[in-house]
Amino acid sequence: MSNIGKKYSTGILKSAEMAAIGASKLIGGGDKEGADQLAVDAMRSALNEIDFDGRIVIGEGERDEAPMLYIGEKVGTGNGDAVDIALDPLEGTTITSKGMPNSLAVIAAANKGSMLHSPDTYMNKIAIGGGYGNDVIDLDASVADNVKSLAQAKKVNPADITACVLERDRHADIIESLRSIGSKVVLIPDGDVQGVMMTSQKDIDVDIYFGTGGAPEGVLAAAALQCIGGQIQTRLVIRNDDEKQRAEKLGIKDLDKKYMIDDLATGDIVFVATGVTEGTMVKGVKKLGSLYTTHSIVLRSDEHTTQYIQTQYPNIS
Ligand code: FBP
Repeated sequence: MSNIGKKYSTGILKSAEMAAIGASKLIGGGDKEGADQLAVDAMRSALNEIDFDGRIVIGEGERDEAPMLYIGEKVGTGNGDAVDIALDPLEGTTITSKGMPNSLAVIAAANKGSMLHSPDTYMNKIAIGGGYGNDVIDLDASVADNVKSLAQAKKVNPADITACVLERDRHADIIESLRSIGSKVVLIPDGDVQGVMMTSQKDIDVDIYFGTGGAPEGVLAAAALQCIGGQIQTRLVIRNDDEKQRAEKLGIKDLDKKYMIDDLATGDIVFVATGVTEGTMVKGVKKLGSLYTTHSIVLRSDEHTTQYIQTQYPNIS
């Protein structure tokens, strides 16, 4: 089996750094599509320099809807290993356009066939950090039961558990359940890849993630947790015939399947998140004349390493 982390982490890192720099040019500019497009263009150019036979499995959407980095698009020089790519060149388009914290350029690479080919629908998610037994959380159990079970495993009270939830009307019941048992609730405006990842960050006070967000973001978050440790369980939320057909087109037969972490991403994975705006996990892009400085977190499943990389690019126009 080819060693994705060892061979390609530098190229994958650069693609995220370039996407972050691209998007940073429109921070606070009120143009989320424009910022996303700059990130997509920059990430795609960088990916096409890598000597591999890359294929997008999680991307900007289906071919007819996404001009670039669409699902199925080939990237790289075509030489080297067959590598599957999941990406979100700008995770947090709205927060970038409003100049708010915690937007990221995100990408994961793994052996061909080892990440779920998910449609761009919603997905129910529950996630915790590493070091717990497989019976601690269950997507099908109530919010309160999950928190109580986690609290028991941590030997603390439910009031000592902090949960992260996307601030959406659809999550009112989750938030109410959490508050009724005294748990702390961290509400995020966007960006549930980071929301899930925070459960695995020792220096961040988030123990559990609950809620419905993008399915592509669920696969990316699973790829990250496979590298740093953690658990995620998900289920697609299929709302209409169009979404049903799109899921079936990607080979999904059981629309109600509960996906465990190994169903979402497995094998030899490299995951990179580069800060666009200032963030809790990584700093944002800094610009001084033509000098750009980026901050990234690079995770590898082969060695379970976490690297914090700061890179300076002296001459970016
Ligand atoms: P974008 O970067 O595409 O705007 O996505 C941000 C995000 O918050 C994701 O992190 C999350 O999974 C999804 O949107 C939630 O969707 P919605 O905004 O429709 O609730």
